[in-house]
Amino acid sequence: MSVEIKEQDSLNFISRITGAMTSGYTPQEVLDKILSSCIELTGADSGSIMLLDDSEKYLEIVSYSGFSTKEATGMRLGLGEGITGWVARHGKPRLVNDTTAETDYISLAENLLSELAVPLTVKDNLIGVISLDSRKKNAFVRSHQDFLLIMANLSAGIFVNLKDNHLLRLRNRFHKVLHEISRIISKSLELDEVFLDIMNVTEKAFKLYRSTLLLYDKESDVLRISVSAESAINENREIVYSPGEGITGSVFINRKPVYIPDVSREPTFLNRMKTYSPSGDDVGFFCCPIFSGTEVAGVFSTFTRRQDEFHSDSLLEFLEIIGSVISQAITIQNLVREEKKVMELENIHLRHELSEKYQFDNITGRSGPMIKLFEKIRLVADSRSSVLITGESGTGKELIVSAIHYNSPRRESPLIKINCAAIPENLLESELFGHKKGAFTGAIADKKGKFELAEGGTIFLDEIGEMDFNLQSKLLRVIQEREIEPVGGRTKKIDVRVVAATNADLEGMIAEKKFRADLFYRLNVVTLHIPPLRDRKDDIHLLVMNFIEKYKSESGKTINGITPEAIRYLEKHDWPGNVRQLENSVERAIVLSRNQLLDVEDFYDEIRSSDVVPAERMAAAVPDGMHLPQLSSLDGLEGRAYEAVISEVERKLIHAVLKKFKYTKVQAAKFLGINRNTLDKKIKELNIDY
Ligand SMILES: Nc1ncnc2c1ncn2[C@@H]1O[C@H](COP(=O)(O)OP(=O)(O)OP(=O)(O)O)[C@@H](O)[C@H]1O
Ligand SMILES: [Mg+2]
Repeated sequence: MSVEIKEQDSLNFISRITGAMTSGYTPQEVLDKILSSCIELTGADSGSIMLLDDSEKYLEIVSYSGFSTKEATGMRLGLGEGITGWVARHGKPRLVNDTTAETDYISLAENLLSELAVPLTVKDNLIGVISLDSRKKNAFVRSHQDFLLIMANLSAGIFVNLKDNHLLRLRNRFHKVLHEISRIISKSLELDEVFLDIMNVTEKAFKLYRSTLLLYDKESDVLRISVSAESAINENREIVYSPGEGITGSVFINRKPVYIPDVSREPTFLNRMKTYSPSGDDVGFFCCPIFSGTEVAGVFSTFTRRQDEFHSDSLLEFLEIIGSVISQAITIQNLVREEKKVMELENIHLRHELSEKYQFDNITGRSGPMIKLFEKIRLVADSRSSVLITGESGTGKELIVSAIHYNSPRRESPLIKINCAAIPENLLESELFGHKKGAFTGAIADKKGKFELAEGGTIFLDEIGEMDFNLQSKLLRVIQEREIEPVGGRTKKIDVRVVAATNADLEGMIAEKKFRADLFYRLNVVTLHIPPLRDRKDDIHLLVMNFIEKYKSESGKTINGITPEAIRYLEKHDWPGNVRQLENSVERAIVLSRNQLLDVEDFYDEIRSSDVVPAERMAAAVPDGMHLPQLSSLDGLEGRAYEAVISEVERKLIHAVLKKFKYTKVQAAKFLGINRNTLDKKIKELNIDY
């Protein structure tokens, strides 16, 4: 009853295979076509193609027809097992016409009575077996076998070529995608962005869908959707999985990737995202753990289309790579986050420290006495009490007044300054308290006094020690009564805080009856004493740096800083003019300096009268042709090195300059920048003969 193969049919068969090959079919499709053609040609009921796996010990089913998925899925035969296994082992075809009579027959399905199996070989190497089955006895004849054998060999060859080609193409695609991914990773650190970009590239290249990243939320002990390439999932972020729940949850617990070729047959698949429909194309589900360091931070999952790609193993390998790339992105992001947190903490700390210690913007100071002073300012700023600021000239009294005012509740109202020493005595009263029109000659209109102008704010009475004794009692009244009396007018209530400053010794003046004791005690409710710079040399470096910043742009020069040596030099000086003097020195040094770093020489002029200049520095400043003793030759000069070296320098300098100007003293003095008498004195003192 068997049907012989007609020539026409075999030609059709060949044309189908070559057609499949040339129209870019995947290896899987070619296999399916080979099988269906064989079944058709022989009148079989079912058939399968099994290929030798990598270990070459087992045959795995790769294509089937006439069997249910259940019957075929996972079908695997060892070499020698069953008829098919026998064919694989012996490399020979086998024709069974009554399966019930064969002891080594293994049936895939019930009621199959005939089987024809032929080896698939390439260059004498077996790669698999095609077997056909029939529910009838004696279904296959020798001519089926011969024909199938030839065609099997032919198609096996085609298949191997296709497979190689396909793998090559797949590998190329992997490379391209990986290259693209490395670019994405280097571009951004934002996890969502990185994930979406990666999935955008990968989904397209490998026909993946609905890739989703779930991250573990420690607090509520669930996996939450972090980001998904599918907008519907993104909008459904309340979906969560407990660890262990469904495929996603168990991957999280087991820390191993999972690939489910067909989720419709997978009972643990929950479809909680409700995006999978059994009728759809996508059946495969890949899910892999995402690590942050050694901890599982979440799970990455994606759906795959019905795998028309033959080598799904390669795809899985690739997806695992993607998983590890995402893991890295998470690890990096966490690191960056932590670093940011630390930085933020440090910043807060720093800002806090700054606001604590240096909140007074333009007052520089980090020395102990200044920090104590800042604390005191903060305490008194809030109150209304009068403040007396004492300190030598140039210590920054005026700056302190501003700090008090702008850190007090009065900061929105005016801060009015008046220098008591700068205004003629007879005018000071009306300056302070105002006057009525015609109150005295020249009072051509009503005039508001500084107190009135300072209403609600602060009045700063600088150099209070210079205030006339009588006026002092009027001021006392203002402070006590909180009212002023304009010259020639009536008293007015005022709300003004008084801050006074002096560099004079008020207590000494009290003793000399030059300053009123009652006013002193009134003003002196709070005294802020600013220590002289020589008592807080720790501040010098910071002050200098600030002044360099302040003046370098004005000078139009590129000054980058100051040498440590110069700082040490400045710190040795006593600064009788305090910060003002230091500020002036830095400003002048910047103007004069020819270098990018201020150095000792730049300050020499300022300080030479009272300080020591290192001999080697001096040597550098001396004109050519004038030889100074080397440091080594200073031995034996102990206790008089300064005197000896400086005199020597002066002698040589004056001598050289006199010679340069042909001993014209006027010109030499001019060049040296000293006056003629001084030059004469020096010539005598230093025994310079000319
Ligand atoms: N701690 C400081 N930080 C920054 N600059 C300062 C500091 N102290 C003083 N200065 C600067 O020094 C100069 C003198 O300061 P200020 O006028 O406040 O001194 P003063 O004590 O009022 O002097 P005087 O008694 O001569 O009036 C100003 O240019 C000021 O900006
Ligand atoms: Mg001042």
